[in-house]
Amino acid sequence: MLSRRTWLAGAAGVLAAPSALAQQAPLPPLKSLAPWPLGTCVQTPQLNDPQWVQLATTHFNRLTPEFEMKMEVVLQADGSLRFERPDSLVAFAKAHGMAVHGHCLIWYAEDGGRFRDLSGDAFLNAYVDYIQKVMGRYAGFIKTWDVVNEPVTDEGSTLRDCLWSQKLGEDYIGLAFTAAHQADPHAILLMNEYNLEYTPKKRATLLRAAERALKNGAPLHGIGTQTHIGGDVPPGAIRAAIRDITSLGLKVHVSEVDITLHEDRPVNAVEPRIDQLRVLDEIIDAYHEVPAAQRVGLTFWGVRDSDSWQNSGPHPRPIFDEPLLFDRFGRPKPLARELAKTLRA
Ligand code: G3I
Repeated sequence: MLSRRTWLAGAAGVLAAPSALAQQAPLPPLKSLAPWPLGTCVQTPQLNDPQWVQLATTHFNRLTPEFEMKMEVVLQADGSLRFERPDSLVAFAKAHGMAVHGHCLIWYAEDGGRFRDLSGDAFLNAYVDYIQKVMGRYAGFIKTWDVVNEPVTDEGSTLRDCLWSQKLGEDYIGLAFTAAHQADPHAILLMNEYNLEYTPKKRATLLRAAERALKNGAPLHGIGTQTHIGGDVPPGAIRAAIRDITSLGLKVHVSEVDITLHEDRPVNAVEPRIDQLRVLDEIIDAYHEVPAAQRVGLTFWGVRDSDSWQNSGPHPRPIFDEPLLFDRFGRPKPLARELAKTLRA
């Protein structure tokens, strides 16, 4: 008769041992399978998280500062600029042979505190100076930048009314790109936006704004389509967004991919995780169709589900979301294996 202690020890051993079914071939480094830069976002606390470091440096070759290269961290109340936190992200990338995507310079959501006190030439000079000081600091290393982030309203018909447009008119966009190009003539300069797949009207407005800027001589090289989506995104919508951008001869960055299970829109799937695989397949297939010279890369907005802004940012979801490639324990999910499969294909 087994003693209770022996029985419990045995049971614990069985439960702990990964079953044969659970054991799968190790996931190959995803960055080695992608014919384009494969990125993830980063924030400084993650640099001290060994599991995050191991996953990020194994599977990705480019980092996007999630928020610490933005005005909210860099621009101080007195107008001075602080770079300790973005510098540490850049130093980490350099130490691990990774690139950095610059994110972001001008954003409606970051109202530029001290800018509010300026107007006319003083405002314009401070605007250009900010862009050129931030970009100039990393010129030669950071090769791609989100110069203007999310300029179009959610409804999609017009550009947002924001501090930058109020002070400089709609040409705040062209002025930003011209200043950026002067700071680093070799950098690839992008406009970054979300819901370009969900809202064709928004996509059309953004691309019209890009064409206007280009017609006025602005050095705008491409579009970041953020691709924050759910399993409910209509089939073909992602491909249509990428095709529209590509057809203008612009470069394409699929810049902030996550595939939420808790979409605000009713998810029309019994098992949304299956929809996640379908959606990821469409992203990769559509991106493979983009001419190589127009591909800036594909960036996930986080490594593990627990890293996702959907679970840990300023407005976390009430139910834990699973939008990324690795689970909260750092284990590759079916989504990661699907990515490896479609990249190989
Ligand atoms: O880490 C600090 C913490 O120490 C502090 O206690 C707390 C309260 O002040 O703030 C924490 O930092 C927050 C950070 O997220 C980490 O959670 C920042 O305040 C907060 O502003 C930051 O939010 C980021 C947001 O952009 C605004 O910058 C999100 O992480 C980031 O995922 C989100 O990313 C945006 C893209 O830039 C543009 N596209 C949409 C995307 C999602 O909103």
